[in-house]
Amino acid sequence: KEAGLAAASIEPAEHPGFGGSRHLLSVEQFDRAGLERFIRVADVMQPFASRQETTRVLEGAVLSNLFFEASTRTRLSFGAAFARLGGTVLDTTGMTFSSMAKGESIYDTSRVIAGYADAIVVRHPDEGSVAQFAAASNVPVLNAGDGAGEHPSQALLDIYTIQREFSFLGKRIDGSHIAMLGDLRYGRTVHSLARLLSLYSELTFTLYAPTQLEMPEHLVELVRSKGHSVEICETPAHAMAGADAVYATRIQRERMGEAAGAAFNEYRIDQAMIDAHLPSDALLMHPLPRDSREGAADLSSEIVSDPRLAIFRQADNGVAVRMAIFTEALSVSHLVARS
Ligand code: CP
Repeated sequence: KEAGLAAASIEPAEHPGFGGSRHLLSVEQFDRAGLERFIRVADVMQPFASRQETTRVLEGAVLSNLFFEASTRTRLSFGAAFARLGGTVLDTTGMTFSSMAKGESIYDTSRVIAGYADAIVVRHPDEGSVAQFAAASNVPVLNAGDGAGEHPSQALLDIYTIQREFSFLGKRIDGSHIAMLGDLRYGRTVHSLARLLSLYSELTFTLYAPTQLEMPEHLVELVRSKGHSVEICETPAHAMAGADAVYATRIQRERMGEAAGAAFNEYRIDQAMIDAHLPSDALLMHPLPRDSREGAADLSSEIVSDPRLAIFRQADNGVAVRMAIFTEALSVSHLVARS
């Protein structure tokens, strides 16, 4: 049994879903107790996600997986998670292949799809749009990213990865040092993760962002108001020095408008930098995709075999975490171990 894994069963939830709602729209639906339960559910899902064990708990159920914006990991891991639970996945990708291209409203689209499916996953370029889908749906709607808004399933898999990897290293999230680097302005994953981490105690955050891409001040204030220390750093090297986990993000040029042409050359994390500044027992995380193009400002794609690099383990955890999202939304988590 791997260190830190919970017992292979979970009690029925006192309240269904996420903070009293079956829709998952924001990490703000979680308090510490809700997050700890969610992590235990994801632990229960691990052997089913890796097919060491099988379950048909969602046999006969249908997922409508609607992606109106590009995705590899989120779309396929939501689909894989539903299939691993025994359900059937219907995919729509791109606005072009939906009747929204003919002017159909979000309300009508969602209302109709809710009649065909037991759960709806939506990625959409407009902030707040997934909440509009939820308002029209009588089945759970799960936010897979709404523009520069939130990406709660990514933040849940990030926090799950930190918890799991720290437990292997004999560390705890409480009291740890988390460095966040890159596009902290438009990177929705980093906003959601900062909110979830702020549920823990006495963290030290070190932040580095290229000029124009700093973390929004209201988020810095939110984290500080929960008793955490936040230091804004001048260089990536300074931010990662002494960190227990580094969370790097891609420059989100697609969300920038006229700032997109700016050079962000001061941000690039390469092997020499992590060898000089990153502790030997630290985690190096990234939500992916990382930009592999020549000269891209990002986590270098040449870093692939460093043991601190957790990015592929992080992506793998997406299946167990999204299985937990479905079983919690549909109130069947407690049935999985026995089914
Ligand atoms: N991390 C993430 O959201 O990746 P995709 O855009 O490939 O889904």
